[in-house]
Amino acid sequence: MTLLFDPLTIASATARNRLWVAPMCMYSARDGVPNEWHLVHLAQFATGGAGLVMAEATAVTADGRISPEDTGIWNEEQAQAWLPITAAIKKRGALAAIQLAHAGRKASTWAPFAEHSGSVPIDQGGWQTVAPSPLAFEGYATPRELSSGEIDAVVDDFAASARRALDAGFEVLEVHAAHGYLLHQFLSPLSNVRTDAYGGSLDNRARLLLRVVDAVREVAPDAPLFTRLSATDWAEGGWDIDDTVTVSRMLADHGVNLIDVSTGGLVAHQQIAVGPGYQVPFAARVRREAEVLVSAVGMITTGPQAEQILAEGDADAIMAAREWLRDPHFALRAAFELGEPTAAPWPPQYERARRRV
Ligand SMILES: Cc1cc2nc3c(=O)[nH]c(=O)nc-3n(C[C@H](O)[C@H](O)[C@H](O)COP(=O)(O)O)c2cc1C
Repeated sequence: MTLLFDPLTIASATARNRLWVAPMCMYSARDGVPNEWHLVHLAQFATGGAGLVMAEATAVTADGRISPEDTGIWNEEQAQAWLPITAAIKKRGALAAIQLAHAGRKASTWAPFAEHSGSVPIDQGGWQTVAPSPLAFEGYATPRELSSGEIDAVVDDFAASARRALDAGFEVLEVHAAHGYLLHQFLSPLSNVRTDAYGGSLDNRARLLLRVVDAVREVAPDAPLFTRLSATDWAEGGWDIDDTVTVSRMLADHGVNLIDVSTGGLVAHQQIAVGPGYQVPFAARVRREAEVLVSAVGMITTGPQAEQILAEGDADAIMAAREWLRDPHFALRAAFELGEPTAAPWPPQYERARRRV
């Protein structure tokens, strides 16, 4: 039997296998409301055998959107619009997960496939961004420093969004603290130069993330709770893997069930060593040293590669993004690649394809 198709139980939920869909922004919503694109896009991966399907970075407040076209969950209309999407994912046997996000200083930017790049000017639908400190991401508009009262509001926004996400049928919640977005901006000394209780020491820089996690845990006592971290800024003087291990332990103590280990995104001058499975060693260190479940992500594109990562004890689950876009039936295919076509959850309508002849 394969490890990849072994179910994984986390808190109140069980994923039917360990090949999952990583969050992917579609830049296709209006006023934060998801639509038919999101439904077809996300449900197809459940048909394709994914154990868990995570909806894109979804903003907890309007000014937390990366682009004006991001999905949101800061109001009831958005929560209602997610309902048929979570139903479609679950009906096809996958866990429905959502990544709750605030983009901070990387908010109010053009979608990658827009005509322009960088910050969206305020008179063209953009907005004033906020961050721990008034330090711009290279090439973007300068953010405004959050006051301590506004930090309290961010905590409340994550909690209220988590509550709405559960009401919208999501079974798994992920707090996005990676890729240079707001919570990562607080963690990294390159973007946080505050002198109050949220800046300076590692404990202080981690304070907002831990408050967010506590607040989400309070409204979702039983749901699997993930946190995505960037294990390194890939930049001198930045956040690193030792900090990541330390904070992962804290997060586990605060009720986080799984660390989704990614890297980078905080600064434009990052120097990333990219290649197949390039982030797996970071996941492995967190798994071994923080004693928490971890998922690995980043250029994991075949069943055997995913299986080997699990066999070596480097991760408990595999997330993939682009491979699912290339092949929405990645899990069905991976079972073939592992010589165990029956291991994957074939929809009965597709069973003819499980046999070669
Ligand atoms: C189209 C696209 C959108 C993405 N959007 C998000 C996102 O919303 N949140 C996030 O944490 N990562 C996002 N990512 C990063 C992926 O989740 C993943 O970590 C990264 O692509 C590496 O995995 P891969 O090599 O399997 O694509 C996105 C990636 C792609 C390709």
